Amino acid sequence: MNLIFLGAPGAGKGTAATKLSGLLGIPHISTGEIFRNNISTGTELGKLAEQYISKGSLVPDDVTIGMVKARLSEADCAGGFILDGFPRTLKQAAALDEYLESEGRKIDRVVDIVLSEAKLVERLTNRRICAVCKLSYNLKVHDINDSVCPACGGALIMRDDDKEEVIAARMAAYHKDTEPLIDYYVGKRKLVRVNSEEVVSDTFANVLAALGIKGADQ
Ligand code: AP5
Repeated sequence: MNLIFLGAPGAGKGTAATKLSGLLGIPHISTGEIFRNNISTGTELGKLAEQYISKGSLVPDDVTIGMVKARLSEADCAGGFILDGFPRTLKQAAALDEYLESEGRKIDRVVDIVLSEAKLVERLTNRRICAVCKLSYNLKVHDINDSVCPACGGALIMRDDDKEEVIAARMAAYHKDTEPLIDYYVGKRKLVRVNSEEVVSDTFANVLAALGIKGADQ
């Protein structure tokens, strides 16, 4: 299955995509995560991306499109993939369609994860990420102390772009550039919507139901 996870910052795309990737055995490709890895290792791409991410702006289309095409051409994507956070603009969506068509592939489904704006902000400000294993926690729902990863013992950190002033810019970029993709994929009859108000296991069950995946052990 070739899938896209759409949704506003903090909607729960990464959480659901990670679980689904494990279940289906296909790669989870998060453009945000690729940028963050490049930032932490100090590559040229990371230096460029950081200028935009730190302000809550989108990284330019040409950079992001080239990066995703290169990732999708890798062998592990031949049997399916989950794109999380890409496409984020109409230009990216058109480039993705064109690239996949040239390869004889296509997107099967686009999962739009939906959550109210107040909850989005609450989830982002309460998110902590393990610096080692990259698992994501919500301080409001996970019974953890806020500095140590219960899975691997790594340090839990807050993302720089989860500060409230940056969150406002990310939300504005989402409304202006990414929300139009909902109509784009409705027009292509590929969009399914999943509510993320519930707990993680319920949200994931909703994702499986929306994709018609049955009998999975969640
Ligand atoms: P990116 O990393 O993609 O960030 P985002 O889209 O803003 O999404 P988040 O990772 O913040 O949230 P999420 O929806 O994955 O939620 P999560 O599952 O973590 O991008 C970062 C930046 O990179 C962008 O701002 C941009 O600058 C740049 N970028 C990336 N892609 C780009 C592109 N295509 N073009 C241009 N620039 C690009 O969940 C959030 C929290 O809620 C967690 O704490 C989690 O534990 C918790 N949670 C999740 N689900 C539930 C639930 N059901 N119940 C309770 N808690 C839950």
